Amino acid sequence: MISKYSVFVKCGSNRELSKLETSSLLERLNPKDFSFQEWKQNLLLKLSENERGRFFKLLEHTGSIVKSGVLEIEENIQREKEWKLELRKLLDKTVRKKYAQTKKQLKVSISIQSNSNEVTTKIHKNTQRILRDLSADSDIPIKILKLKNENFEQTPFQYHKENISRRGFEVTGFVIKSKVFFGITKWVTNPLVDIKQDEGRKVRFFTHGTSIKLARSLVFLSQIQKGGTLLDPFCGTGTILLEGLKQGLNVIGIDKDPKCFRASKENLNQYTLHFPSKNQVKEKWKVFKQDSRHLSTILTNKVEAIVTEPYLGPFLNELPEEYEAESIMSNLEQLYVSVLKTSKEFLKTNSKVVMIVPEYQYSDKLVIKPNIEKIANRSSLVLETESAFFSLTTPISIGRKHNIIGRRLAVFSKS
Ligand SMILES: C[S@@+](CC[C@H](N)C(=O)[O-])C[C@H]1O[C@@H](n2cnc3c(N)ncnc32)[C@H](O)[C@@H]1O
Repeated sequence: MISKYSVFVKCGSNRELSKLETSSLLERLNPKDFSFQEWKQNLLLKLSENERGRFFKLLEHTGSIVKSGVLEIEENIQREKEWKLELRKLLDKTVRKKYAQTKKQLKVSISIQSNSNEVTTKIHKNTQRILRDLSADSDIPIKILKLKNENFEQTPFQYHKENISRRGFEVTGFVIKSKVFFGITKWVTNPLVDIKQDEGRKVRFFTHGTSIKLARSLVFLSQIQKGGTLLDPFCGTGTILLEGLKQGLNVIGIDKDPKCFRASKENLNQYTLHFPSKNQVKEKWKVFKQDSRHLSTILTNKVEAIVTEPYLGPFLNELPEEYEAESIMSNLEQLYVSVLKTSKEFLKTNSKVVMIVPEYQYSDKLVIKPNIEKIANRSSLVLETESAFFSLTTPISIGRKHNIIGRRLAVFSKS
């Protein structure tokens, strides 16, 4: 039976962030007859073939999603003969198509997920057997890759190290309640690219920097279109700016600290050097040494998004006394309002502000943080409180970075 859901998405360790990114992606597609199912770390989505193609293209720009692919088969798990037959057809088709492209031994990885180890092992073994039979019947050499962990799936690192997308494919299966789904993985996040990008930066400050993956998520969530201009009013070493440049945007960074201003400039300069058309790339970015509360003195043109991980308060080894925490958060609130109010004047209508805000968590009940609704009201911005798809309340938590300071991701828009 053809699967009702045509796409699966495997969320990263922060499931909410992956769901928010998927929702933001779907907003751009505006799917016609959409429905979904959520199972553990996975989202199964109903998309048309045309929507599916655009979905995979956009995934490249997300930061937290682990992998995604097409789903083709949906069968009752009890109808073993039927699903084995359908799986064989799917694998036969995929093996022949891949072999026609590579003409080399195919590397095939098998990823099976279910609630029971026994069921997972059984499907895994069956898939291996089908692949071996296919190889014997068709004379196509197939190497079934061994798994390096006990999760019955290849890690993204191994997937790219083995070059599976070029040299073969990954077959993916899920057992959800009484149903078994099978499909082929189409896209897996590439940690090798992030490591290279991270190490390639000229200047890195470990206490100031935003992670590359988070920067990518933030830029993606702003929904800025290629060619638009992104502003980061607290640019630090320029991680968000670099990510923006990589995504084909124009970027403007501001930082009041001379050391950070220089670091951003050096990192962006270094990036520019990689291009034959250096002068063209150089025109795409600007960095200013300035207190962002006074950015109106330097900005001239409108921007399409504000994306930032701002100053999150002093670096701490332990949580401050509660009265001190209240005072830190109230000062941050004032700083954010002041910067947002000024920069909002340069933000085009219907554009977004994607921003991290800190919080101190003392216990389940006591969390001291800036008042995000107040920040929105005082800056005349609209705070987004739920995602367009899925039941997801925002701002979402994105965890602690330096152990002490928790962080939330807030999205505002200018109406
Ligand atoms: C958390 S860091 C930004 C991290 C940055 N995204 C990165 O990856 O490097 C915050 C930055 O805000 C800057 N900053 C603090 N107050 C500022 C202000 N009023 N105007 C401009 N920059 C400010 C600090 O110098 C610091 O570099």
